[in-house]
This record gives sequence, C-alpha cells and structure tokens, in this order.
Amino acid sequence: MAELNGKRLVLGVTGGIAAYKAAELARLFVKDGAEVHVVLTHSGAQFVTPATFQALTGKPAWSDLWDARMPDNMAHIDLSRGADAIVVAPASADFLAKLAHGLADDLLSTLCLARDCPLIVAPAMNRQMWESPATQRNKSQLLQDGVTVLGPASGEQACGESGMGRMLEAADIHDAVVGFFQPKVLAGRRVLLTAGPTFEALDAVRGLTNLSSGKMGFALARAARDAGAEVTLVCGPVAQPAPAGVARVDVTNAQEMHAAVMQRAAACDIFIGVAAVADFRPAEPVQEKIKKEGKPLQITLAPNPDILAEVAARPKAPFCVGFAAESRDLEKYAEGKRQKKKLALVVGNLVKDGLGGDSNAVVLFDDRGRHPLGPAPKIEIARGIVAHIGAMLAGNGGE
Ligand code: C5P
Repeated sequence: MAELNGKRLVLGVTGGIAAYKAAELARLFVKDGAEVHVVLTHSGAQFVTPATFQALTGKPAWSDLWDARMPDNMAHIDLSRGADAIVVAPASADFLAKLAHGLADDLLSTLCLARDCPLIVAPAMNRQMWESPATQRNKSQLLQDGVTVLGPASGEQACGESGMGRMLEAADIHDAVVGFFQPKVLAGRRVLLTAGPTFEALDAVRGLTNLSSGKMGFALARAARDAGAEVTLVCGPVAQPAPAGVARVDVTNAQEMHAAVMQRAAACDIFIGVAAVADFRPAEPVQEKIKKEGKPLQITLAPNPDILAEVAARPKAPFCVGFAAESRDLEKYAEGKRQKKKLALVVGNLVKDGLGGDSNAVVLFDDRGRHPLGPAPKIEIARGIVAHIGAMLAGNGGE
C-alpha cells in the first residue's frame, strides 16, 4: 500500500523516551510512500540519533537552526516549504508550551511557527505533566489554533507510574495521519455497518458459518471514519481489532446482529450491510454436543431475518448500501438485489476476486449504471466506495 504517495512530511522528534517509537513511525511513513524529513530537538537527539533517522528515511536529519549543510542557511523555511504536514511525535510538555506561545528558539519550533501546512502533534509525557493545568491550557490553545492533537493514550509509563500521557503507538499515529489527508466527504454523517460472518449454533460446539474475514467491512469502517463520519460497526466473530475511534458492537449470530442493527437504525444516515449474514440457522439448536449414532442426522433450518432489506424498508430509511458476492452472473444478481431490496447502491464482486483476501475487484451498481473499482487493496476499494457514497449524497451521482 502506498497511501502516503507523493506526500512530503516533516517529522519532529522532541525529548522523551517515546522518541524510540518515532524511528518506527519514520519507517512506516517511508514504507507508505512519503518523503520524510526528520527534525530533532537537542533533547530529542539525546534519545535517538540523527543517524538512525537518516538511515530510515534516506534523507539528512536536522537539529541545528544554524546547520551549514542547508544551501542558503534557511533551514527553518526550506524544510517546511512544500510540506504537506509537520508531525511532531513525541511532542513533550515543553514543546507543547512553546507551540502554544509561539516561541521559536530552535529549528523545530521555528519550522512550526514559519509553516503554511497543517501541524499534527502526538503528546508524550508523565501523567502529572499531562494533567497539569498549564499543559491542559496549552492543549486547548493548540486545538483552538487548528492543531491536530493525537492522543495521548493511557497506560504504563517509563517512570513506573500509570495514567494518561503515553504516546500513541507508531502504527496508530501513521493510521491517523493517513486519515487526516482523506477528503471529508462524510463529515457529520452517522454510518452504521455490519461486517464479518455470523455463526449459527447447531449444538454446544458446532455451528454454521462462512469464510467472510470481515476485512472489507473493517476497511469500510476505517474509510468512513477517515471521511469524517461517526461510525458504528456491528460485527460477527472476527479476530481483528476495530479501527480507532469506531464504536464496535460484537455479536455472534444473525438474530443478534439484527437486534443490534435495529436498535441503532433510526440514528444513522447511512447503513452499509457488508456482513455475510447466514440466510438460515438451525431451527432447534441443541444445548449439549450432538453424539454420532451411526445414522444420518437431519437438521431443519429456519430462515434468518434479512437485516439490510428490513432497514431499507423502514419509513425513514437511511441511505442503504448492500454487498453482493456472487459466483457468476454478477451484473444480473447484483442489480437484481438492488431492485428487490430497494437499495441506493450495491457493491458487487465475484467471490473469486475478494472473499477472505486483502484485495478485491468490485462493480458499483446504482441508478446511473455500473462503475467498476479495482482490482486494488481493500482499503483503496473502501475509499472508492466512500467517495462514491459521498458524491451520491452530495447530488452529483458519484461521477
Ligand atoms: O441476499 P444476499 O444475502 O445476497 O444480499 C447480500 C446483502 O444483504 C449484503 O449486503 C448483506 O450484508 C445483506 N444481508 C443482510 N441480512 C441477511 C442477508 C444479507 O443484511 N440476512
């Protein structure tokens, strides 16, 4: 994946033990296609050396305002010129204070003041420093100034204490920075999604399920969140963690999924049914483990509610999106499903192209026809679907 392709980032590293995580963050940014220029404060360079960042980014790492290597000695202007964002991780209490007051007594703080790009900070400090009225005041000021503040998280600290102040993990900061750059086409919208398989119990240890991995639904939850939506994800049994900031509701079977969705359907603007809901469940599940008796066993199956069709049939139905995974005749079945369930949009894919894997090729079906997307990684497909929904809601049909 190269979600930061073409992006130029300045990564600021200030003094704190979390500076070691900044090395991993630099690596993630570079791996994702970004051009990364690292600027350390003098305290930051006590924790991790410029050589580490130089090796990871393939670019010189800077820390001195008067560094003679800069062609015209204007490092404070040159480094942020053309930058898409400055990301300061870790941002110490002292550095937040400097930013809040507009101090510029070293290269990084000067760059932050002399910038015309967004500033993103990931604070890291002892919990008392974080909770102190001065730091809280500085944080509020920074938010008011339009700075994006990521975290901090709560947990164990290097000083042995536990509480708020831990820097977010590098992967979470990377995820948030990628999200930061996405167009906010669903700003203010509430999105409800289903994802994953359902598990329909047959007895104490067995059940009916399917091969859905939940990856497409989780990618869509992330894409919708990054597009500015408030996202709730109702998911069947899947192991992967929900994207940060997404409300997750875990269910096991179709009836539980149905109940969880119906409880929330009135409070959403967009409903996306990605889950591979079992159409049938054992009519009479047995509490104990069924024993083999050397003769055929008959199981009667009862139909499950069609969650998506029911949401779409509500008097004040949200904008409804369905998925159709077919093994053949995609066009006929997917468009047929759209008509039958009265959906605004159906995302169709051939099972061989998507189920379980990390990439997918889909065709979007709406009133205006068919729109192919991919093959591409699922997150890219998800961003394409979200862009299409955003355009349809904005009234320009997704073209
Ligand atoms: O009818 P079919 O199962 O092929 O339709 C697929 C779409 O309907 C998917 O979006 C799926 O999440 C949704 N669905 C549902 N409840 C069911 C069956 C399917 O929400 N019981």
